[in-house]
Amino acid sequence: MWGDLAPIGRDADTRGYRRYAWTEADRDCRAWFQAQAESRGLAYEVDRNGNQWAWLGTATYKDVTAGDAVVTGSHLDSVPDGGAFDGPLGVVSSFAALDELRGRGAEFTRPLAITNFGDEEGARFGLACVGSRLTSGQLTREAAYELRDGAGTTLPQAMERAGYDPSRIGPDPERLARIGAFVELHVEQGRALDLSGDRVGIASAIWPHGRWRFDFHGEANHAGTTRLVDRRDPMLTYAETVLAARREAELAGAVATFGKIAVEPNGVNAIPSLVRGWLDSRAADQGTLDTVVAAIEQAAKERAERDGIDLRVVRESFTPVVEFEHALRDELNKILGGAVPVLGTGAGHDAGILSGSIPTAMLFVRNPTGVSHSPAEFAAEDDCVAGVLALADVLEGLACS
Ligand code: GLV
Ligand code: MN
Ligand code: MN
Repeated sequence: MWGDLAPIGRDADTRGYRRYAWTEADRDCRAWFQAQAESRGLAYEVDRNGNQWAWLGTATYKDVTAGDAVVTGSHLDSVPDGGAFDGPLGVVSSFAALDELRGRGAEFTRPLAITNFGDEEGARFGLACVGSRLTSGQLTREAAYELRDGAGTTLPQAMERAGYDPSRIGPDPERLARIGAFVELHVEQGRALDLSGDRVGIASAIWPHGRWRFDFHGEANHAGTTRLVDRRDPMLTYAETVLAARREAELAGAVATFGKIAVEPNGVNAIPSLVRGWLDSRAADQGTLDTVVAAIEQAAKERAERDGIDLRVVRESFTPVVEFEHALRDELNKILGGAVPVLGTGAGHDAGILSGSIPTAMLFVRNPTGVSHSPAEFAAEDDCVAGVLALADVLEGLACS
């Protein structure tokens, strides 16, 4: 499976993955998913939001009794220059766990589905977990229709161009009502398992997190002839805001990152008219996150006044704290022998979004460097196999007699 996936959407220079929603690379990942489903005799369906499903024990979710289905999976899209594992490890492991269970002769007493949730990273339209947010009703159809990528293409246009019907997107409570448990396996995005010496962990909670867009409007002018005192340079205000973000996050024990920036007109010899920077900030609790973001906004505002800059801040997305359901988490721990470390994380996941609607849980696989959202992301083969076996045990415990 890795051999087939490896070349899809990989940049020849950076060796990172660029698998953005509804692009050619995404199409190839989706074709791979469908082929994996069909080669195993699973019933393949695409839901109204473009998420892919591969069913064992039923031809469609419609025939499943409420709360009966056990679902596992993750996502195949990536951040810009992402690693091979964030997302795909969960999907590959799901198919491999099913193969393992068939090899064990396991008898399924509940329907099982493997999923690929669309646009988890939000790399193209700016909002993470679009597929699961739509399905759970956390993103309205109207708001989804307004999403645009950097070239101005709307989400429905992109879906249509990729051959999907966007007119049906929206909440899918009937599908969710069929699911009794969703378990997502994911590469760890930190070093807790490396430090504890464990191959596999269970998720406890996800930090609240969000994305804010800061628009700094100044005045374009000549870089050679405009006196420093006459400038309204938004880059200065932006630079001070980045430093403030670092300072405030450090003071509060939170994290804050400006990882994306757009500059207009983007000329070497022109003072910018606009600098747009996207802040990603996360903290262990909501109060801390609110305080950090308010302090960054205040610092930006004060500096904007000094620099003669018009500032606009828009919260583009927000995900509240997720505490994974204790009963399912405890069941996983029991199935896995009770000695599995339970870890919190600052990374967002579809399992976190869906936890507002159905019982969800996560398994983490050791990442020896902790690096993620980078081509250097890594998990050793032995650890990946341990992840597959743990997932197989969990699915056997939940879905087999
Ligand atoms: C997704 O990986 C996120 O945490 O932003
Ligand atoms: Mn990610
Ligand atoms: Mn992920």
